[in-house]
Amino acid sequence: MLDVRTTTLPDAQTAPEAPLSPTHVTIRREDYRPPDWLVPEIQLDFQLDTDETRVLATLSVERNGDHDRPLRLDGDDQLKLIAAKVDGGDAAYRMDGSQLVIDLSGERATIETEVEIAPAANTKLMGLYASGGMLCTQCEAEGFRRITFFPDRPDVLSKYRVRMEGDAQRFPVLLSNGNRVAHGNATDGRHWADWEDPYPKPCYLFALVAGDLEANRDSFITMSGRKVDLAIWVREADLPKTQHAMNSLKLAMAWDEKVYGREYDLDQFNIVAVSDFNMGAMENKSLNIFNSAYVLADQETATDADFDNIARVVAHEYFHNWSGDRVTCRDWFQLSLKEGFTVFRDQSFGADIGSAAVKRIEDVRVLRAVQFPEDQGPLAHPVRPDSYIEISNFYTATVYNKGAEVIRMLHTVLGPDKFRAGTDLYFSRHDGEAATCDDFVKALEDGSGVDLTPFKIWYSQAGTPKVRARLEHDAAAKTATLHLEQHEDPTPGQASKQPMPIPLKTALIGNESGHEICPEQLIVLDKARQSVAFQNVTERPLLSINRGFSAPVIIQAERQPDELERLAQTDTDPFARYEAMQDLMMRALIAGAQGESVDSDAVIRAIDATLKSNSLDPAFKGEAILLPSESIIADRMQIVDPGAIHRSREALRAAIGSALGDALLAAHRSDGAPGDDLSPHAKGTRRLRTVSLGLIAASEESKAARLAKAQFDAADNMTDRQGALGVLVSLEAPERKDALDAFYERFRDDPLVIDKWFALQAAAQRADTVDQVLKLAQHPDFVMTNPNRLRSLAGTFGANHWAFHSADGRGYAFLAEMIVVADKLNPQIAARLVPPFGRWRRLEPKRRDMMRQALERIAASPGLSKDVYEQVSKSLA
Ligand code: PHE
Ligand code: ZN
Repeated sequence: MLDVRTTTLPDAQTAPEAPLSPTHVTIRREDYRPPDWLVPEIQLDFQLDTDETRVLATLSVERNGDHDRPLRLDGDDQLKLIAAKVDGGDAAYRMDGSQLVIDLSGERATIETEVEIAPAANTKLMGLYASGGMLCTQCEAEGFRRITFFPDRPDVLSKYRVRMEGDAQRFPVLLSNGNRVAHGNATDGRHWADWEDPYPKPCYLFALVAGDLEANRDSFITMSGRKVDLAIWVREADLPKTQHAMNSLKLAMAWDEKVYGREYDLDQFNIVAVSDFNMGAMENKSLNIFNSAYVLADQETATDADFDNIARVVAHEYFHNWSGDRVTCRDWFQLSLKEGFTVFRDQSFGADIGSAAVKRIEDVRVLRAVQFPEDQGPLAHPVRPDSYIEISNFYTATVYNKGAEVIRMLHTVLGPDKFRAGTDLYFSRHDGEAATCDDFVKALEDGSGVDLTPFKIWYSQAGTPKVRARLEHDAAAKTATLHLEQHEDPTPGQASKQPMPIPLKTALIGNESGHEICPEQLIVLDKARQSVAFQNVTERPLLSINRGFSAPVIIQAERQPDELERLAQTDTDPFARYEAMQDLMMRALIAGAQGESVDSDAVIRAIDATLKSNSLDPAFKGEAILLPSESIIADRMQIVDPGAIHRSREALRAAIGSALGDALLAAHRSDGAPGDDLSPHAKGTRRLRTVSLGLIAASEESKAARLAKAQFDAADNMTDRQGALGVLVSLEAPERKDALDAFYERFRDDPLVIDKWFALQAAAQRADTVDQVLKLAQHPDFVMTNPNRLRSLAGTFGANHWAFHSADGRGYAFLAEMIVVADKLNPQIAARLVPPFGRWRRLEPKRRDMMRQALERIAASPGLSKDVYEQVSKSLA
């Protein structure tokens, strides 16, 4: 799963330098060729040690097809080759770059290699690395080649036998994929374990863990009555924080049986938490490895959002057992085959175990905050990309979240039963295979009997479609006509576009009655222009369109503020109601940013009605009264002036705060359930409490500071505590420093909470945020080698629109510097800090020049990794 946090700076010698141009080759989807050699079986023997690990690999290789090409095994600078043998004799091999090349005359052979690797020096966190005294692996996408020589591509599937041996005291627990078949003691205080995975898998799903860990153990009985032993492995002190992850796992296992008919297929399922991890988590067969942020939680240290994220990520990785492991990807261009589908599955799971309406709003908020800007900027790419320099750069919101929206649209047009018939066929047809996105759609077609060809364009065409909608009402004839028009902007490499099939759930709501006068129907807009007629329109109709966000598009509907205000109160679809509020707010915010006069009354009335509604639940209210973020406003503007956007948004917040002070105070004070109550109602109440506080702060700073400090001091849970601190950090009041210091002192030994402390300050809406962040970068707890920590400061700062776009250019300079330094340690993480720079073309001229210069400075820095090179050169192009 993607993530949105060790040790100290390693010395410069350990930083690997990639020479520039010649190694930065572009890989193209159209060049795909099946593998020349297959590896049906592999045996790995690890002599583990933090500084120097020996890896002996025995590969049975088989020629695939009629050709005379040599065997090519991928490697990496990280590997020190000790020996290579073919069928027991010394091999005649040669190196081609980092590939080990062997000429073989027969149809099959046994290849043995021995390499030495240095886990402690592995700051890229790809391959075998050390984290907090333990050893662990990360192989997706191309990390296995940093462990041993192997055809490192997902369409080479092998049966694994793993022997691992290490110091019994430092590494009492030895884990790998599959089943432990034997274990015992060796000499010199060492011990060993043998693991066997009966399911052939690509090497990116290989995993190994060795460390001093304890397990929270439980079990699950599958629908066919088999008992599965479950274990969540953490450091002993963290055991009390694992119960929520365990509960989530069991819920996910039951859900996949019920909704997809998929049961778990081994006798053991292990999750291991590590504190240094590049992403959210990894679905290695039966041995999922997790960023500790997505495992560890208790009421004192984790927010409601953290609890939700844990449930989501645990489910996501578990679901991969079928959508990813049993059926994997043929090549990395097909990444969305497993990721888009699995995100869709985890989103559906989240909707089923909580409030479906609020879940949909949250998922769309993430899509708009991360994927829409991607689609609009220089890094735009299709859900199934056509080319890449570094595949790590394509673990994006487009592949994941937009990919999930594509699956959701297919689900919408097929309906649940036909969709299920399609997925059943997909799993049975491709079980044990490496498949493509086309295979997936074909299975849905064959399973459902519905032609889905037109929808395939969603995999190949980048960019977010814009849909214009205008409703014409003929009162005398009691009819209405909906005029729809779609438009797709050019994206890099795709100058001209084709119309796409856009499924729009649409209804007409009566302005007076507030009822669905024309009930919801599914309109598939598949031409540039299309009109749809409605009969029996007995009163003035209000257009409710893209209900439930049925398509990932931008709707530009001609609707008057009074119509939006009415929809915000009456629409029968909760998402559409939320959307009407967002639309209303957006208009006021854009007008304000353009220096036009702003009518905030409609927004204020709509928020007031929402707060006072007896039928809406608090979580929905908390979402609905949240103003669009500054970057989402920026995405809707032709020329972006971050200062003007900030002032516009603050002005509207202040207007709301002063007009609705009493209602907001009441919402802020509404009785909360105890902090360990994770029911949607309790979570919603906490959310609404803090959102209301934020609006109060916009108009009455010192009163809000008092309220926030009181909330902070009285909090029996992290949600209220962090919420209060999140409001305080943007204020000038003396309570700010007191609360920040108290928070730090209390949690100084808990790295996941200290991440929050950094992130809160990097997200502050203050004129001096850049100075604060520069200071924090010097803080002794700021360690560049820990991805969570780096993200909490630099990643959060890059997403703080106003501060990052500081008028003096220092925000750009800071983030550019971070990227250059981080690149020497961990290119994957460094490259993920680049996207905020993609907006430069649409900025007002002063900032545009400064931002471009910052990008050029990164580009000019010597020894840039291909990760950062790709993102920066594309951003400049
Ligand atoms: N495949 C992981 C997931 O989404 C993400 C991941 C990619 C983790 C690359 C680590 C490295 O579930
Ligand atoms: Zn995934």
